Amino acid sequence: MKSFVVVVIGGGPGGYIAAIRAAQLGLSTACIDEWRGADGKPALGGTCTNVGCIPSKALLQSSENYEQAGHHFAEHGVKVKGLELDLAQMMKRKDKVVQSSNDGIVYLFRKNKVAFFHGRGSFGKSPSEVVVGDETLQARHVIIATGSNPRPLPGADFDEKLVLSNTGALAIPDVPKRLGVIGAGVIGLEMGSVWRRLGSDVTILEALPTFLGAADEQLAKEAAKVFSKQSLKFELGVKITKIEKKKNVTVQYTASDNSSKTLECDRLIVSIGRVPNTEGLNAAGVGLKLDERGFIAVDDDCRTNLANVWAIGDVVRGPMLAHKAEEEGVTVAERIAGQKPHLDFNTVPWVIYTTPEIAWVGKTEQQLKAEGVEYRAGVFPFSANARARALGDTTGMVKFLAQAKTDEILGVHIMGPFASELIAEAVVAMEFRGSAEDIGMICHAHPSLSEALKDAALGVDKRSLNI
Ligand code: FAD
Ligand code: NAI
Repeated sequence: MKSFVVVVIGGGPGGYIAAIRAAQLGLSTACIDEWRGADGKPALGGTCTNVGCIPSKALLQSSENYEQAGHHFAEHGVKVKGLELDLAQMMKRKDKVVQSSNDGIVYLFRKNKVAFFHGRGSFGKSPSEVVVGDETLQARHVIIATGSNPRPLPGADFDEKLVLSNTGALAIPDVPKRLGVIGAGVIGLEMGSVWRRLGSDVTILEALPTFLGAADEQLAKEAAKVFSKQSLKFELGVKITKIEKKKNVTVQYTASDNSSKTLECDRLIVSIGRVPNTEGLNAAGVGLKLDERGFIAVDDDCRTNLANVWAIGDVVRGPMLAHKAEEEGVTVAERIAGQKPHLDFNTVPWVIYTTPEIAWVGKTEQQLKAEGVEYRAGVFPFSANARARALGDTTGMVKFLAQAKTDEILGVHIMGPFASELIAEAVVAMEFRGSAEDIGMICHAHPSLSEALKDAALGVDKRSLNI
C-alpha cells in the first residue's frame, strides 16, 4: 500500500493547487482525478480548465474579436472586407488553450513531485484509506476537492445537443439561429454573449424579478440597459412550466404578468446554478457529514467532521469560484503543515466577463443599507476617462463605498473595460484595510483606466478631479 501525508481527491483549481502547495511544504502528496479529455486521456484542471473558466474566456475573447471586426473597427478607420466566421477554427483554438492549461498542470505536478493517479477516488475501510482503481492509498490527511455539476431543470435533462449544460454550450458546432437560455446568472450572461456576438438571436429567461441580484443595484441596472442595447433579450420573473424537445426545443413559461408564453429555440442552455459533487466518494461509508444542501459540511478552516479529512472549493459552502477554491486549497495545505493562514471571504472578488466586464469586491450599496452601515459613495464614469475614450470603450463606471467616519473601503464596483484586471487594486486596498483617500492619494499612470479608480475614490470626498 502506498502511503502519503496528503491525498487530494479532485484535480480542479482547488485540488491541484492544494496538492502543489502541500508538496512545496515538503509533504508527500498524491492527487487523484478522474476527468478524461475528448481523446480519452487524463485532463487535469477540473471544471475550470476543461469546461469552465478557461474555454469560456477563450470563446469570449474570440467572439469579441469577431464583434469588434464586424461592428467597431470601421470607427477606428480600419475597413474589413469579406469578414467570415470560422467557427471550427474558433473551437480548435479554444481546445488548444484548454490543452495547454491541462499540460501546464501535468508539468507542475512533475516539478513539485506530486504523484498523480487517474481514476475515481473513494474512501475505503476508513477515512485514512483512499481507493483508486486497483490501488489503495494510505493517507494521513485527505483533502476533498470534487467540485460541482450543473443543476438540471426538472423535466429537461441535459443531452448536450438540444438542452445544453456549460459543456454543450462551449461546443455548439454551428451558430444556432435562436438560442434560449434559462437563468440570467454568470453562465447565462457569458455564454449568451458569446453566441449573440456570433449571430444567434438570444433570449434569456430568469426566475427572479431582479437582474444580477448579487451585484450592486446601480451597476446591475446599468448592465441590464447595456445588454438589452446589445440585443440580448431578457424576461425576468418567469416560471418555466414545460420543456418539449422535438427537432427544436419549446419552452413554455408563465411570464411576470401571469400570461402563458412560449419560446421556440434551436438550442437551449440551462444555467440555473450548480450542485456539489460527492458522488462515488463513499462519504456515508466513513461517516462524512454533508449539510442539508448536499455540500460537505466544513468549518471556517475547511475541516470536516472527520479529524483527518478536509474539503475545499465548489463542494463546500461559499461562492463557486476558481480563485476561492485555490485559496482554500493553499490554506488547508498550510494548516496541515502547521501554519496558521487566514482567508477573508469578504475580499474574494467577483468578475463577469461580459462586455462591459463587471467586477466587484466587498459590500454592495444595498447590503450596506440593509446592515445599517453609514457609508459615503464615490462614482466615476468611464466616459470621463481619457484612456477609455482612446480605447473607444466608455461604457460603465467605478463606484467606491467607504465607511462614513473612518473612510475605510467597504466595497468597490466596476463595470467597464478590463474591470477584471482593475478590481485587483481594490482587493489589495481592502486587504490592507485602506481608505478611499489612500487610493485617491496614489499616483496612477496617465492615461490609464486605473485613473477611474482614483477619481471614484476621490469622489467619496466629493473631490473627483475629472468630472
Ligand atoms: P472542479 O473544478 O469541479 O474540479 C473537481 C475535479 O474533481 C474534477 O476534475 C472532477 O472530475 C474530479 N472528481 C470529482 N469527484 C472525483 C472522485 N471521486 N475521484 C476523482 N476525481 C474526482 N470561476 C471563476 O472563478 N472564474 C471564471 O471565469 C469561471 N468561469 C466559469 C465558467 C463556467 C462555464 C463554469 C461552469 C464555471 C466557471 N467558474 C469560474 C467556476 C469554476 O469553474 C469553479 O468554481 C471551479 O472549477 C471549482 O473548482 P474545484 O476544484 O472545487 O472543482
Ligand atoms: P448562477 O447562480 O450564477 O445563476 C443562476 C441563475 O438562474 C440565477 O439568476 C437564478 O435565479 C436563475 N434560476 C434558477 N432556477 C431557475 C429556473 N427554474 N428558471 C429560471 N431561472 C432560474 O449560476 P450559473 O450561471 O449556472 O453558474 C454557476 C456558477 O458557476 C456561478 O454561480 C459561478 O459561481 C460560477 N461561474 C463563475 C463565472 C465567473 O466567475 N466569471 C462564470 C461562470 C460560472
